[in-house]
Amino acid sequence: MTIMIAPSILNADFSRLGEEVTAIATADRVHVDIMDGHFVPNLSFGPDIAKTVDQLTDQHMEFHLMIEKPELWVERYIEAGADTVIFHAEATSDPVALAHDIHARGARAAFAVKPGTPIEPYLKDLSDFDQVLVMSVEPGFGGQSFMTDQLDKVRTLRTYIDENKLDVLVDIDGGVNLETIKLAAEAGVDVAVVGSAIYKSGDPEATIAQLREILA
Ligand code: DX5
Ligand code: ZN
Repeated sequence: MTIMIAPSILNADFSRLGEEVTAIATADRVHVDIMDGHFVPNLSFGPDIAKTVDQLTDQHMEFHLMIEKPELWVERYIEAGADTVIFHAEATSDPVALAHDIHARGARAAFAVKPGTPIEPYLKDLSDFDQVLVMSVEPGFGGQSFMTDQLDKVRTLRTYIDENKLDVLVDIDGGVNLETIKLAAEAGVDVAVVGSAIYKSGDPEATIAQLREILA
């Protein structure tokens, strides 16, 4: 099965946002990291910049909301162009209700888990989601090292999804590069988020091609 590459624009040069989005045109989707300075100790940007990114490309947009009270914001981010809304399971009391709200507004619904959050309590609700994101770093910053122990969660999800014949994608996010993508692929991910490895390489398109060669 082919693995989708989702460049995270968090590490892009924002003074050249148009060129930076064009540079990842061969990717499968675009990963947009929204941080509020509360749920994570960093601040990125809000719906207006996210909308600008969406308008620069026809690619599928997954918006990763690292924010408190995501239920108050999904409407704004769907208006801004999110095709998939990824909220953190830790940030809301009723993830399933929020998934239903996202679906009613016409977007795909996903939840993310931080490294310290076990996946088992969420397995029974997986059929309400289109995608699950496993964080392989503590959320908040690009350029951190891949946490190999998080691959156990990917394996648990892969087994559960396959055994129950669910239509749910597994996303890995944080520290994915030309080395660690092999481990993620072996564990069974469907989508690999890649930030600094693509944007700090000097040639995003060539790096995407290299990642695809490794996965082939
Ligand atoms: C971290 C973000 C990631 C990050 C990925 O909180 O969710 O999407 O930008 O960047 P790298 O690939 O550099 O870890
Ligand atoms: Zn992310």
